[in-house]
Amino acid sequence: MLRDQKKHIICIANQKGGVAKTTSTAYLGAALARLHRHVLVIDSDPQCNLTYSLELDEAQQEFCLENNLASMYESGHPAESCLVSIRDNLDLISASPDLVMTEVTLDSQPEALSGEPEAILKQALAPIANRYDYILIDCPPSQGMLTLNGLVAAQWVLIPTLASVISLTGLERMIEQVHEIVHGDPPINAQLEILGVLLTKFRKDRTVELELEKRLRSLPEEFTVFKTVIPDRSQFELLGELKVQTGRHLLDLSMVSYSLLPYLTLAMEIEKILRQKSLPPAFGK
Ligand SMILES: Nc1ncnc2c1ncn2[C@@H]1O[C@H](COP(=O)(O)OP(=O)(O)OP(=O)(O)O)[C@@H](O)[C@H]1O
Ligand SMILES: [Mg+2]
Repeated sequence: MLRDQKKHIICIANQKGGVAKTTSTAYLGAALARLHRHVLVIDSDPQCNLTYSLELDEAQQEFCLENNLASMYESGHPAESCLVSIRDNLDLISASPDLVMTEVTLDSQPEALSGEPEAILKQALAPIANRYDYILIDCPPSQGMLTLNGLVAAQWVLIPTLASVISLTGLERMIEQVHEIVHGDPPINAQLEILGVLLTKFRKDRTVELELEKRLRSLPEEFTVFKTVIPDRSQFELLGELKVQTGRHLLDLSMVSYSLLPYLTLAMEIEKILRQKSLPPAFGK
């Protein structure tokens, strides 16, 4: 059982904006929770889209004003004191707009913070990480210190991308950043691996997207392109745009919503990949 093995910390990152990092964090988190895994999602983006899309109640919103990722970085609040329960098996550490200043401090005055500036999140998560099967970190669309902290805290990075030429350039840069983190001298996080590249908002009716998918899958690089692709569906707009009315409904774990379905398939694919990776090499095929 995964529960008895080590937790999986997955950073969901791509410096390209709008590729469904936040949507994928929310739905993959919900899908894994529905599969009875214990999941923590972390909003590491000053835009706070993940926090807003989970539609916290008033008491939770009040709580998150003081207890959030920025207060973990800036005031050393223990992660334990920032956890918000969203659903059975699904917890959140929220973002706040203060994360903008946190990133500036991480960059320009790291001495004002305790510990290595790129490893603060990793250290903060250590006391609670074993409670969870999965910790998913939603990164901002940049390669700055918040993303770096996510990549240092994680063992895996999941890279969502659109099947467009511009997005694939973003993907290349992301892969370069991972390479620097793993193979730098000294490595910043030698354990980091690309769990997979996820094609999002995918339109099968567009030849250009099908061709780019084919190209991506035939690249010689050693990374997985998930078999699961997330189709372009107007319903996904609801998560970001109409959260107040619909956020809870869309993440309702008691039903399999239209939008959750591809992420359930992805969650099962990820579990299979992780099971294979944990087998001794002779069985890992
Ligand atoms: N499969 C999908 N089909 C259609 N729209 C989608 C899909 N997934 C996400 N979207 C929409 O695309 C927009 C961007 O998604 P999202 O905010 O998840 O991207 P992001 O990568 O987190 O963006 P940012 O870089 O700004 O953090 C949102 O309006 C969201 O509702
Ligand atoms: Mg986002």
